[in-house]
This record gives sequence, C-alpha cells and structure tokens, in this order.
Amino acid sequence: MDILNMSFSAGAGVLNFADHLQQLAYLLAAILFILALANLSRQKTAQQGNNLGILGMIIALVSTVLVAVLQDDSAAVLCIVLMVVAMLIGGSIGVWKARKVQMTAMPELVAMLHSFVGFAAVLVGYNSFLATPGADTELNAFHMGEVGLAVFIGAVTFTGSIVAYLKLSGKISGRPLTLPGRNLLNLAMVIASIVLIGWFITTRGVEAGILPLAILTVISLVLGAHLVLAIGGGDMPVVVSMLNSYSGWAAAMAGFTLSNDLLIITGALVGSSGAYLSYIMCQGMNRSFASVILGGFGSDTSSAAPAEVKDYGDYHETSAEEVAKLLKDAKHVVITPGYGMAVAQAQFPVADLTKRLMAQGVDVKFGIHPVAGRMPGHMNVLLAEAKVPYDIVYEMDEINDDWSEVDVVLVIGANDTVNPSATNEPNSPIAGMPVLHVWEASRVVVFKRSMGNAGYSGVQNPLFFNDNTLMLLNDAKSSVDSILDYL
Ligand code: TAP
Repeated sequence: MDILNMSFSAGAGVLNFADHLQQLAYLLAAILFILALANLSRQKTAQQGNNLGILGMIIALVSTVLVAVLQDDSAAVLCIVLMVVAMLIGGSIGVWKARKVQMTAMPELVAMLHSFVGFAAVLVGYNSFLATPGADTELNAFHMGEVGLAVFIGAVTFTGSIVAYLKLSGKISGRPLTLPGRNLLNLAMVIASIVLIGWFITTRGVEAGILPLAILTVISLVLGAHLVLAIGGGDMPVVVSMLNSYSGWAAAMAGFTLSNDLLIITGALVGSSGAYLSYIMCQGMNRSFASVILGGFGSDTSSAAPAEVKDYGDYHETSAEEVAKLLKDAKHVVITPGYGMAVAQAQFPVADLTKRLMAQGVDVKFGIHPVAGRMPGHMNVLLAEAKVPYDIVYEMDEINDDWSEVDVVLVIGANDTVNPSATNEPNSPIAGMPVLHVWEASRVVVFKRSMGNAGYSGVQNPLFFNDNTLMLLNDAKSSVDSILDYL
C-alpha cells in the first residue's frame, strides 16, 4: 500500500512539474509573441520582431512536446516521432512556398494559409467533441459551446479563405456573386447556426450531438463561401485581412476546447491585430468597416471598372534625360511608389537611383500611402527587399504637410493614392480617401505605361494634366534604368 502511495505521489509530482513547466513556457512564449507584434509594427525592428516570434513558437512547440512526453511515458517515443515528422513535412512545405512565392502573389498565399487554421479549428472541435461528447457536469455547457463556436468560426474561415484564394489567383471569377436577398440569407444562416449551437449544448453522447454539429458544419461552410463570393475580387486584400482576424478567433476557440492558454492568447492576438489591420485599411481606402464585416464590401466597385471619361485638358510628356536633369538640379526629392512599382519590379533600380542622388547631395525621401499597392505594407516590403534605408521611408501622415518644400516628386506607378479628386471632387468615387498631396510640390513626374489606364478605382486622375506634372510613359523599371544612364 505504501509503495502504491509513493508511486502515486511521485507520478503526481511529475505531473505537477510538467504543468508548471508548461505554464512558464507558455507565459514566456506569450510575452515573446506580444513583443514580436510590437516590433513588427516598425520597419526598422520588423526583422527582430520576426526573430522574437520564431523564438516564441519554438518555445511553445518544444514545451508542448516535452510536457506531453512527461505526462505519458508510454506514448513518449511515438509522440515525439509523430510531432517531429509533422513539423518536418509542414516546415519544408512552408520554406519551399515562402521561397517560391512572388510578392504580388502574397495575398493569395496568406488566404490559403488561413484556410488551414480554419480547418484545424474544425478538426480540433470534432476531436474534442468525440473525446468528451457532452456530460451531466456543470462545465458541460461551456465545453459544448466552445466546440460549437470553434467549428462555426473555423468552418466559415475555411471556405471563406478558399474562395478568397481562388478569386485572388484567378482560378474563379473575381466578380461578386450577388444573389437576391443575400444579406437575409447570411442572417438566416447565422441565426440557424446559433440555434444549432444551442441544440448541440443540450445533447449528451456522440449519437445525439453529431446531428446538430454536422448540420452546423455544413451551414457554416456555406456561409463562409457565400460571404466571400459576394465580394469583388479586387477588394479581396481587405477580406484576407478580415479572414486573418477570423482565423485568429478560430484558433482562440480551439485553445478553449483544448484548454490551451497559449493558443487562446495567440488566437486573440491574431484576431484583434487582424481586425485592427482591416480597420486601418478601410480608413486608408475610405470604406466602411461594418460593410466589410457584413460581407457587402467591394460589390459596388471593382478594379475592372472602366476609367471615367472627363476632359482635364492636355498632359505634358517628358523623357528620361529631362527627368535626370530635373533631379540633378533638385535639393529635395520625394518618391511615392504605388502598385505599378510592384508590377514593374522597379524597386531595385529605384534603390540605385536613391543611392546615386544621395551621393550627389540630394535629400531623398519616400512617402508611403497606407494602401499603396495591393496589401498592407506592400511598398515597405519592396523597399526593404531593395535595401532602401528605413530612416528615409516616411508614412503619409509624416510627410503630407511638407510638400511645398519638395522640388521634385517621382510618382512611380501610383495613381489613386495621389489623386487630388479625393480631396476636391465630392462626387468622385474616391472622395474622402486620404491621399498624398504631391501636387503641392514644385514638380511632379508620373511614371506609368500609358494614358489609357486608370488606377485601381477606375477613376481618372486630374494630377496628370496639371501644369507642374510631367508624364514619363513607359514601364517603371525601364524608365528608372534610363534615368540612371543620364545621372
Ligand atoms: P493604383 O491606383 O492601383 O495604380 C497603379 C498605377 O501603376 C497605374 O497608374 C498604372 O498605370 C501604373 N502601372 C502599372 N504597371 C506599371 C508598370 N509596369 N510600370 C509603370 N507603371 C505601371 O496604385 P496605387 O496608387 O498604389 O493605389 C492602390 C490602390 O489599390 C488604391 O485604390 C487602394 O485603395 C487599392 N487597394 C489597396 C490595398 C492595399 S491594402 N494596399 C488593398 C486593396 C485595394 P498603367 O497601367 O498605365 O501603367
């Protein structure tokens, strides 16, 4: 009997130690994730943020495996082998994908990754239900509610992300699917899901619970797909950010079902930062946050919208040689890149141009609009890739009052983000969108390929017809290369 007691207390001691170890490791990992997010918010410290996040994830994974082994010796070897194999396969695919993906295809990759999180949350929910399928305990309602919510959010994220991926990669049409009464349909599906979760909570045992859970899963899968199908393909980046938020909440719900504190914290961090990012993007585009959440976003506008025809007069075309001369004579130059720089992959010659001008004593800065390009931080990433120093890269708000001191602005492949009609044409589709006031500078040089194409919003840009604006019509990379030849 004594021997039995001793071994029991020894076992409990091991469990206790394992629990404490896990709590400590999770706390450390959670702090590292928070620090990672804080550092990621600045270009200068983003690399450090990434490293902190990687360290947090290593601590989380290693401690989870270690504790699983400490708690159940019998499964130790199998557990380690399975986890290491899974991590090696997943890690290899991740590294391969990350190396291969083009910057312009990043949003679709992110959308696909979110679908995995959603699917994982659904699997965790089902697993948790099958392991503990409802019981007459006080905590049962919570447990079943967590499972129901994890499956609901996970399934919506899963199909929503797949549809976003298919639209972004052009595998299905980007046109919004506008079924009659689609908002009512969405509302009906949400109400049905709530009712089903209520029913599911009252069930006891697998046979009773599986029916409401299965119907809930099917409805949530349809809801996710329908929500995103209703949104215009060109507006997917905001939706991807929203799905990022959903995937965070799905992970947090999975954390509840697994009683894993770190997953709850991490999911909440992803959920809230994704929601905040969507909010910033909506502000930058002057859109309503509520309409994104309701899934009505982008159905009234589309990147494919034809350019509005309005006569703003003549434009003045220029040459690379003339621009080189302007730059040589300038004291203060600002470069405002946009989507066209990403398309042309002009960031490398732009970085060379910057270096060359700075070496000649010209003050060069970059002005970055919050939604320039097609995803948050698009321009910052490209400039960092080309090794442009962080301290000359300014946010729109930091630079927007100083244009009168600027001699030359190079608008490289930007259009909507420098469109003055956002400020002075109340009926313009982009009225109210905050823009870079480049027209207040002495000289503006716009790099684009032709006068025929409008920007993302399909709106004509009166900036191109101003007296102080020169148009350099060619591929942005070729144009910058040619300017470099004259510098
Ligand atoms: P856009 O308004 O998209 O205009 C792109 C410009 O680049 C056009 O003038 C285009 O003219 C030019 N261009 C394209 N390829 C080029 C090339 N190879 N060489 C030279 N020029 C080229 O750009 P923006 O100012 O960056 O604005 C972004 C827009 O996207 C905003 O309306 C924003 O609301 C929207 N949006 C942004 C996001 C995020 S999060 N960034 C998400 C969704 C939507 P040509 O075709 O004539 O060359």
